[in-house]
Amino acid sequence: MKKSERHIDPRTVYVKTKYRDIGKIIAFSSGKGGVGKSTLSAFSAMYLANEGFKVGLLDLDLYGPSCHLILGADIGKYPEEKNGVVPPKVSGVYFMSSVFYSENKPLVVRGKGLNDAALEIMTITNWPNLDYLIIDMPPGLGDILLDVSELLTPKFVVVTNESRISMESVKKLLFYIKEQGLPLLGLVENMKMSEGDFIERECKNLNVPYIGKVGFYPDIEENYGEKDGFLKKDVFKDIAGIWRRIHESS
Ligand SMILES: Nc1ncnc2c1ncn2[C@@H]1O[C@H](COP(=O)(O)OP(=O)(O)O)[C@@H](O)[C@H]1O
Ligand SMILES: [Mg+2]
Repeated sequence: MKKSERHIDPRTVYVKTKYRDIGKIIAFSSGKGGVGKSTLSAFSAMYLANEGFKVGLLDLDLYGPSCHLILGADIGKYPEEKNGVVPPKVSGVYFMSSVFYSENKPLVVRGKGLNDAALEIMTITNWPNLDYLIIDMPPGLGDILLDVSELLTPKFVVVTNESRISMESVKKLLFYIKEQGLPLLGLVENMKMSEGDFIERECKNLNVPYIGKVGFYPDIEENYGEKDGFLKKDVFKDIAGIWRRIHESS
């Protein structure tokens, strides 16, 4: 440990070092809530696992965790402990979330408490040798984004829907990512209903790669909690298309 690091939280040094072993860390983020970050994170993790990769999924939306619902995780029991907390394998994905401990009760913390909870989860989780770690980020710019950017330096996939209101918030996140020089894979347009190219044009103007789109599927929640059901759905083809583009560009 360097002299300058002695006075900081030792967990940050540990996390920075430990997560370097992971093949690729990809964070699904957005300036906005409700655009599909959790859906795309969880579906992406299931898709990659189905392709044969060793995949972890970390739900860092501590105020509104939802990946457990999409994967179908049993949150009724604590994960096993062995040299840390062992993330259970759910729908083919090594999964960690605060819900294993909060048992669906709300997490009522502010400021430093939130960062502390996120840092603790990152520290105690004993991930296996992963090809991919997918992170489901909380909406917007804030404490968790700052920590994740600094400690894990993931590649960002930014999610929006085709609305102007969503894109306006997303622009602020893109500005931050660019200003900080963070790796950006590009933007995914989710719940696409129209033939319009508004988001694609915005991407061109902002010089941000447009990764692709995922359509609006009203029955998407029917297969939450069952991987095999999801793999047969049309949305799976869209997710596969998104990953084809990501693989090509990274
Ligand atoms: N492609 C889609 N088609 C239809 N509904 C979707 C799609 N993606 C997400 N949803 C729905 O939109 C809502 C918000 O999605 P969610 O993944 O929770 O967003 P976020 O994590 O950004 O808040 C959920 O009810 C989800 O089922
Ligand atoms: Mg979410």
